[in-house]
Amino acid sequence: MTVFDSLVRYGMPLVPKFIVGRVARRYVAGTSRDDAIRMLRSLNQQGAMTTVDVLGEEVSKTELAEDATRQYLELLEALDREGLDRNISVKPTMLGLKIGQDFCAEQVMTIVRRAKELGAFVRIDMEDHTCTDATLDLYRLARQEWEQVGVVLQAYMRRTVADIGGLLELEPNIRICKGIYREPRDVAWPDFDVIRANFVYAVEKLLEGGAYCAIATHDTYLVWAGMQLVDRLGIEPERYEFQMLLGVDPQLRRIIMDSGHRLRVYVPFGRDWYPYSMRRLRENPTVARHVMRAMLGLR
Ligand code: FDA
Repeated sequence: MTVFDSLVRYGMPLVPKFIVGRVARRYVAGTSRDDAIRMLRSLNQQGAMTTVDVLGEEVSKTELAEDATRQYLELLEALDREGLDRNISVKPTMLGLKIGQDFCAEQVMTIVRRAKELGAFVRIDMEDHTCTDATLDLYRLARQEWEQVGVVLQAYMRRTVADIGGLLELEPNIRICKGIYREPRDVAWPDFDVIRANFVYAVEKLLEGGAYCAIATHDTYLVWAGMQLVDRLGIEPERYEFQMLLGVDPQLRRIIMDSGHRLRVYVPFGRDWYPYSMRRLRENPTVARHVMRAMLGLR
């Protein structure tokens, strides 16, 4: 990372919220469920699968976690009613993980039970390393109730390969991504090349071990490596998919689908768009240009 990149990345919190909002619009479907429904319909019509995320994280009040659970239950009903992809992504800290593991488990299981009734899929997103053990426990618990539940592992985490080994007996559904949180060196690989290599290794272990693998990346090298692995290992199309975030590289999305692979877009929406957008903007190497354009009123 150049000095300029670092200045932009660490200077982001100083950028006024309305500027962040203007630039972040491409990463978020909107603030309301209707905004999300419109976006999901459009993506589904373009041939992309979708997963939808109600934005929010780390709540410390039980009412907020319960409200998040309610929003997810309403979302599941809406997806069912509208005939859209019934696939949601949830964050444990938004469902009260930092309040208590049992309390959070109640929220997650309430969502999972309704998902089971509707035949919907629930993905449990992975947050920072302080949540990893608890998130995997939630996943194991949810799987006892409903098989259409998945979890996420991060290629930057040193423990990921061992975690895969521990999960394979469940025939798990795992999304592999690089990982987006700032982690200390004793838990995460900091080097770009090592993270890439670990990503490929993880995908290979999952596919060889009989898991369903969601290859979540916009890194063209990793997209290529994923395509090469499923080809070399002779993996059936029902055993994997690619995943990308809303707003990032729609052309790559089209390239993946046109090559005959299944592709799912992660669609976040909600009032709590700010922390999510800040993380997206920090990781975007062209962020400076977007922020400058927004400040100059060019977009
Ligand atoms: P990388 O960051 O190297 O990006 C590759 C290329 O993509 C860049 O060169 C750039 O051109 C483009 N790009 C990447 N980000 C961009 C952006 N914001 N705007 C514009 N262009 C951009 N993480 C996590 O810790 N827990 C989780 O549960 C999830 N869940 C998740 C779901 C899905 C569907 C995806 C795609 C990603 C996640 N992530 C995540 C985020 C993930 O860990 C990672 O931070 C990002 O995907 C960026 O990593 P890439 O593999 O895309 O590579």
